[in-house]
Amino acid sequence: MNRLSRKPPHVIAIYPGSFDPITNGHLDLIERGSRMFDRLIVSILRNDAKKPLFSVEERLEMIREAIEERGFGNVSADTFDGLLVDYARSKGAQAVLRGIRAITDYEYEFPMAMMNRKLDPNLETLFMMPNEQYTYVSSRLIKGVFKLGGDVSELVPPLVVRRMKAKGVAKG
Ligand code: PNS
Repeated sequence: MNRLSRKPPHVIAIYPGSFDPITNGHLDLIERGSRMFDRLIVSILRNDAKKPLFSVEERLEMIREAIEERGFGNVSADTFDGLLVDYARSKGAQAVLRGIRAITDYEYEFPMAMMNRKLDPNLETLFMMPNEQYTYVSSRLIKGVFKLGGDVSELVPPLVVRRMKAKGVAKG
């Protein structure tokens, strides 16, 4: 019997990503995931080829602060290296949570989900949609707008605005 044959008594899910930085869209998904799963582990990829604004440690701190602020008792934050399927197995996770905003996300997500299924047929990828007010929010846009002096305070937690200000990335 494989892990998908029946529902396990305790479902652990991994929410992997870059989180550079965490946004209210991510937090919306974390809240939804915390209601669906017994445990949710938000995990930052360490060996990211993209040039991040924040170090892995800074991103981890921000996620931990945001989780604590919102009182998500069954959510924790972590980092991982290498294959997601190996990491998920090491955590005893049965599911991967990913957010889908628009059809373009689907095109990016589908091959990753299928590759992960090929690598581990027992690991299920589940997609959730954030609240519609966050469907256009991405870490990339947040950084771009903030750098040019735009107001992103309704789209990220205040602690992220403080960190971005401290980085001195804003124009003017
Ligand atoms: O937030 P992102 O950058 O869209 O997240 C991408 C992430 C971290 C989920 C993806 O790059 C990943 O899982 N990388 C780990 C390497 C891996 O397992 N690759 C094989 C499956 S595509």
